[in-house]
Amino acid sequence: MPVLVVGQGLKVLFVNPAAEQFFSAGAGHLQKQTLKELIPFGSPLLQLIGQALDRRASVGERAVDLSTPRHGERVADVVVTPLHDPEGAVVITLQERSLAQRIDRQLLHRGAVRSLHGMAAVLAHEIKNPLAGIRGAAQLIEESLPPSERELPRLIQSEADRIRGLIDRMESFGDTRSFPRAPVNIHEVLDRVRRVAETSFAKGVAFVENFDPSLPRVLGDRDQLIQVFMNLVRNAADAVPKQGGEITLTTGYRPGVRFGAAVAGERLSLPLEVTVRDNGSGVPADLVPYIFDPFVTTKRGGSGLGLALVAKIIGDHGGVIECDSIPRRTTFRILLPKAQNGAEETADA
Ligand SMILES: Nc1ncnc2c1ncn2[C@@H]1O[C@H](COP(=O)(O)OP(=O)(O)OP(=O)(O)O)[C@@H](O)[C@H]1O
Ligand SMILES: [Mg+2]
Repeated sequence: MPVLVVGQGLKVLFVNPAAEQFFSAGAGHLQKQTLKELIPFGSPLLQLIGQALDRRASVGERAVDLSTPRHGERVADVVVTPLHDPEGAVVITLQERSLAQRIDRQLLHRGAVRSLHGMAAVLAHEIKNPLAGIRGAAQLIEESLPPSERELPRLIQSEADRIRGLIDRMESFGDTRSFPRAPVNIHEVLDRVRRVAETSFAKGVAFVENFDPSLPRVLGDRDQLIQVFMNLVRNAADAVPKQGGEITLTTGYRPGVRFGAAVAGERLSLPLEVTVRDNGSGVPADLVPYIFDPFVTTKRGGSGLGLALVAKIIGDHGGVIECDSIPRRTTFRILLPKAQNGAEETADA
C-alpha cells in the first residue's frame, strides 16, 4: 500500500515505493513537495489530517477522490494516523480503488436488478400458468404410457419444474415492498448459515470464524440476510478445492470509516463489515466487473441469479458489497449500517 509521512506545513517527509508509484514520481522529487501539490484542491484528505491531529487518533475515510490532472483519476481508502515524533506529523496510508469499478458498478447493479422487476412480474404471469398446464399434460401422458416409454414425459416435467424454480427466484426481485426491519445479530445469521452449509453443500470444507464480539446489530430482515450469506457461502463452497477447502467468515466494527463520498453527495456510515473469503480458484479477472449482474454464470446449471439477489438485498439494506479475487483468495466484503441511533436508518424502516 502507498504510505506517506507528512510533517508540519504538510511537507512530505517520507514515501515508500508504492507511494512513488501512486504519485508517479520518485521519492527525491516527492520529498521536495508539500502534500497540497499532490492532491486535488480542497481534498477531504486535508480535513482528515486536521481531525487526526485534533483527536490524536487514527481517522479513515473510504473512497476519497485524489484525482488530479497530472496523476489522473484516483480514488483511495485513506487512513491518517498521527505520530508523536516529529510533533504534528502523520502517517497516511492509501488503498487504491478504481472509481468506476467500486462505486458506479455498485449503482449499476441496482439498476440492472431494478429493470428485472417488471420482467419478473410479466414472466411469472405469462409463463407460470401455461407451464403448469404443460406439466400436467406431461403427467397424464406419462400415466397412459407403458413404463418403458415414460422417460420423455418425465423429462418434460423435470424441465418444467426447473423453469418454474427459475421464475420463482426471479420473482423475488420483483418484490419492491419495503420489508419489516429489526435489529439482527449477524453472528447468529452466520452461525446458522455455517451449520446448514456444513451438513449439506459444504461437507468437508473447513470453516474459520473471526468474529468481532463488539459488533452491534444491523437493522434488517433476518431471513433475507440469511439468504445473502447462504448464497455467498454456497458460491465459496462451489469454488474451493475438494481437499483443503477453507471458508473464512469475518466480522468487524469500523465506526470511523465513512463511505460513499461520491454517491449522491451523501456520506454513509457503514461501520459493520462482514467478509466471506475462500481459498478457491478465484473469479476470472474479466468476469469480476459483471458478477453481480443477473444471468452471469460459469457454472453448468447455474442461473447467475445468486449474486444479483445478494446485491439487491444488500442495496435494500442500505449497504454495499464488493468482490476482490485472486487465486486462492476470493473475498466478498459487505458493509452495512448499524441498527441503533441512526435516524436515517430507522426513518424509512
Ligand atoms: N467465491 C467465488 N469464487 C469463484 N467464483 C465465484 C465465486 N462467487 C461467484 N463466482 C462466480 O460468479 C458467478 C456468478 O455467481 P452467482 O452466485 O450469481 O451465480 P451461480 O452461482 O453461477 O448460479 P446460482 O447461484 O444461481 O446457482 C459464478 O458462476 C462464478 O463464476
Ligand atoms: Mg451462486
